[in-house]
Amino acid sequence: MSDRPADTVVLLGVTGGIAAYKAVEVSSRLRRAGAEVHVIMTAAATRLVTPLTFGSITGQPVYTDLLQEPRREAVEHIALARRAHLLLIAPATADVIGKLAAGIADDFLTTEALAVTCPVLVCPAMNADMYAHRAVQRNLQTLRDLGYLVLEPDHGRLATGAVGPGRLPDPEAIVARAMALLAGHGQDLAGVPILVTAGGTREPIDPVRFISNHSSGKMGFALAAAARDRGAKVTLVTAPATVSPPPGVEVVPVQTAQEMYDAVLERFADVRVVLKAAAVADYRVARPAPGKLKKGQAPTTLELELNPDILAELGHRKGRQVLVGFAAETGNPVAEALRKLRRKGLDLIVANDVSDPDSGFGADTNRVWICGPGDAVEELPLLGKREVADRVLDRVVSLL
Ligand code: CTP
Repeated sequence: MSDRPADTVVLLGVTGGIAAYKAVEVSSRLRRAGAEVHVIMTAAATRLVTPLTFGSITGQPVYTDLLQEPRREAVEHIALARRAHLLLIAPATADVIGKLAAGIADDFLTTEALAVTCPVLVCPAMNADMYAHRAVQRNLQTLRDLGYLVLEPDHGRLATGAVGPGRLPDPEAIVARAMALLAGHGQDLAGVPILVTAGGTREPIDPVRFISNHSSGKMGFALAAAARDRGAKVTLVTAPATVSPPPGVEVVPVQTAQEMYDAVLERFADVRVVLKAAAVADYRVARPAPGKLKKGQAPTTLELELNPDILAELGHRKGRQVLVGFAAETGNPVAEALRKLRRKGLDLIVANDVSDPDSGFGADTNRVWICGPGDAVEELPLLGKREVADRVLDRVVSLL
């Protein structure tokens, strides 16, 4: 957030979805990032969260369609629209998306949307079936065609108990996206083909058991989502992970290191950037048993053989691609990372210390060093994984 413009004015439109409560944290994070935040609530939103909550957090009057004199409101909304650097609508219900697509302006928020000249970021959130409905998808496409930016909703458990796309992304991800837009790199990866690997590979011992690691997939998925939001065409080659992959990217599921090797090598010539966040097993079982090993009959030692090093092979074949490796270490992360950067022919490598609980496997935060090109080392503070992802992508953009 260091390159955020000074005196940033963000209009936060809150509509009447269950996720409206998450907008409270969005407003708080925007405030902490230094933005002047003006909240505009639809009438339905005021039934879910009180304007007072937003007013207390932002220190600004909250605009609703209630209790305001029409004359003052009309003047103020034009003045606000002129000052705004970003209109962020989170959550955006199917109803408001439909109105925006049709150019309807029947309340403060939809009127403001027509009056602003700044970027508009719409964050849809609704039931998965509603989100999939052709009318909603058509309206979202209309918004994109009109130049609105749409933040894809997450997959996950929705308020109705159903699982699918439609969940409002975490406030951290929304604010990271908003900040990226404000810093002027909204779509700085537009159309760039990017391959991301994630998860922890599984090497079978027999049809029932495997050797693997603690990778949760969160860092790789955050990279894929961040690249997607910046306009990249993302392919996510993923080994098993503990969370769902982000929507809006092509997902190629794999199990073993060899399968990941094949999937990545097959696509390498067609991509411009590879972000290799997967935790790849260095060894596999030499001869996995075809049937379940029985107690007492199984060998007490496993014979292992080396897996191919995917990243080293990419470094070997590299043309104009930008190659980014990851090094999860338990000691000397920077020295280890720089050694791998040289050995594998990488442009950048992102090091972390997994013995630190804030940066450990499964954590939502990470403290990393971005190493390269050459011996350059940039130490980042403890950040959410989404923000780490955007920082890594900032560096990738500068190398493209
Ligand atoms: N990697 C890979 N293929 C492998 C092993 C690792 O592509 N067979 C990639 C990882 O995805 C990661 C980087 O290489 O981006 C570093 O992985 P790591 O396991 O730390 O490196 P190793 O080469 O296995 O080094 P060491 O075992 O000495 O720590």
